[in-house]
Amino acid sequence: MNKQLRKAVIAGNWKMNKTPAEATALINEIKPLVKDATCEVVVCVPFVDLHAALEATAGTNIKVGAENCHWAENGAFTGEISAQMLKAIGVPYVIIGHSERRQYFGETDVTVRDRVRAALNAGLTVILCVGELLSEREQNITMEVIGKQVKIALAGVSAEELKRIIIAYEPVWAIGTGLTATAEQAEDVNGAIRALIASLYTKEDADGVTIQYGGSMNAKNAGELLSKPNVDGGLIGGASLKAPDFATIVMAAN
Ligand code: 13P
Repeated sequence: MNKQLRKAVIAGNWKMNKTPAEATALINEIKPLVKDATCEVVVCVPFVDLHAALEATAGTNIKVGAENCHWAENGAFTGEISAQMLKAIGVPYVIIGHSERRQYFGETDVTVRDRVRAALNAGLTVILCVGELLSEREQNITMEVIGKQVKIALAGVSAEELKRIIIAYEPVWAIGTGLTATAEQAEDVNGAIRALIASLYTKEDADGVTIQYGGSMNAKNAGELLSKPNVDGGLIGGASLKAPDFATIVMAAN
């Protein structure tokens, strides 16, 4: 395994936090701290903050992402946002299949697959989230669960399109709980995801896929997690809302 074959990506997932004015302020705080980053730096923000985030990051090395998109190009889907709309305002990244969407908003493997398809069609890069529940880990079915999530989400994704997929392994039990997977647990699952992708595509294709870890990643534990050969970055919740912590994680990925 050669980490040089793929890009390290540190992405913040702000979830339902920050008004547009607060988003501008936080980005202005982050900007100078990450300006020398050699990894890709992304902030995924609520829809209403996208304009402010795009404006605040213009001309910097920080990229902007949304936290979800719908599977249809347009239509009678009250309250939803399409991938085309994101593309039209200049957003390059979108998170799809976050466990909070799966848990609280009825997201299924099939709707995740359809949203991935829409995002790829619109030309976006997808941060595809997968992860097991604590009960599933305890039953020793972690890889069955994640294998199913990955296989369904990638159904119909070509090798060329795979270059615009980042996978974020986020064990549900580690999200917002302060419980982090050990670096070994993260490496085991990320390595198994890469092996699965190699079986679906080629080893070369799989070696090019950025696979992040997410779940209580913070300024203290990031270095150890990111030192693992198959942990190519992080999807950061809580710690991404604090500029110095987020910057420390970015620098750990350099
Ligand atoms: P926390 O870093 O707050 O645990 O959240 C992780 C996450 O869900 C990122 O998408």
